[in-house]
Amino acid sequence: MPQALDELFSDKQLKRDSASLQRWGCDWTRSFEIAPSAIVFPESVDEVQALVRYAKTEGVALVPSGGRTGLSGGAVASHGEVVVSFDRMNQILDFNATDRLVTCQAGVITQTLQEFAVDKGFFYPVDFASAGSSQIGGNVATNAGGIKVIRYGLTRDWVAGLRVVTGDGELIDCNQGLIKNATGYDLRHLFIGSEGTLGFIVEADMRLTRQPQTQYVMVLGIEQFGDILNVLAHFQESLSLSAFEFFSEAALQKVVAHRDLQRPLAGSADFYALLEFDESAIDAAGRSYEEVVAKGWVGDGVLSQSQAQAEALWQLREGISESLAEFTPYKNDLSVRVSQMPAFIEDVDALVRASYPEFEVCWYGHIGDGNLHLNILKPADLDVTAFYARCHEISPRIFEQVSARNGSISAEHGVGLLKRDFLGYTRSQPEMAIMQAVKKVLDPAAIMNPGKLLPRTGGFH
Ligand code: MLT
Ligand code: ZN
Repeated sequence: MPQALDELFSDKQLKRDSASLQRWGCDWTRSFEIAPSAIVFPESVDEVQALVRYAKTEGVALVPSGGRTGLSGGAVASHGEVVVSFDRMNQILDFNATDRLVTCQAGVITQTLQEFAVDKGFFYPVDFASAGSSQIGGNVATNAGGIKVIRYGLTRDWVAGLRVVTGDGELIDCNQGLIKNATGYDLRHLFIGSEGTLGFIVEADMRLTRQPQTQYVMVLGIEQFGDILNVLAHFQESLSLSAFEFFSEAALQKVVAHRDLQRPLAGSADFYALLEFDESAIDAAGRSYEEVVAKGWVGDGVLSQSQAQAEALWQLREGISESLAEFTPYKNDLSVRVSQMPAFIEDVDALVRASYPEFEVCWYGHIGDGNLHLNILKPADLDVTAFYARCHEISPRIFEQVSARNGSISAEHGVGLLKRDFLGYTRSQPEMAIMQAVKKVLDPAAIMNPGKLLPRTGGFH
């Protein structure tokens, strides 16, 4: 490693011991080699700029690192890269109640922003199970979604301004927190979801909104996969939902065992839907419930009677990902338009049953947003490399179904390393050529998270 890193950073900002390399060199994926050469912890925008300029001159590859909760290997360093952790840039810099804006350094934890908003009488609505450790910079870099998208949209919808250090080491200020700004290309949106391949987000102006009413949670047991969408459409005819999630019985069993939770209903069903709505919609929700039962779509259901019960019901959904971690799951994160979902589910379900008869499969996800998580679990006696190789054999067939319906092979987890070579199932060749060209402009020395997101060749495996 060139000496200059030691000149740019103090001892406490630079780690090279193997435990630190392993800890900061990866995300939640467990299938890639972890081999960074150093971890640096900048404390200011100036330090990030100096680092990028040094890396450009020396040809040192940099990997940005936030809360390391990613699921696609976007923050994995496998080739001696220097990992740039934003853990020490974790301050809320500014708040303005009139503008409803909070300026965060990249390393602010999502939950810190959520709690800050509540303290000020507002609400930051983007939420997901990893909110306690994920960071705002990472959320923006992956356009994180989560459990409230049906009502509040994605991280992109809450970013009013961004400060970004490009691959040239320039600091650019995108949109300055403005609501209206018709001055040409909105570069802010280019960086949102770019996974650190164009520049490193150092500060973000995040929008807040009004606090919602008290929320009620309902969990419904549903036998037929296709009926989940009938239930969604029926409730949406008479109320606005804050969330509409689903999970299979297999997923429920895993989370109940892992967290020692109570099952939601007396009996079991093949699938469950979790709905959340405002207190003022409770009567409409009750009527809709009676109707979906009468139609035979729902067998049984439960409505939260307290905030504690609402939280307990949410755990059944939010704890699934963590409960599957011990099975080294192969994760699919697919999306199609909601109108395409019934036919898509049927085809993917048939394909999965035929292709993976020997593997346990857990379904869950944000079905109200057209987003399915399909997790294939590794049998304990199968080696992880062999398991992933087997899953990669089938993935193209699943992705062909996605492509045939103009869907996405990565709805919200990002592309990173895991989906990189499959990008062409969702993005066209001309689009990928433009993406490559944009990367050359903003990162001419190819030092910003190289090897991530953009396929090395044609975009198909
Ligand atoms: C979720 O919806 O629980 C997250 O996207 C994480 C996951 O899919 O495992
Ligand atoms: Zn998800």
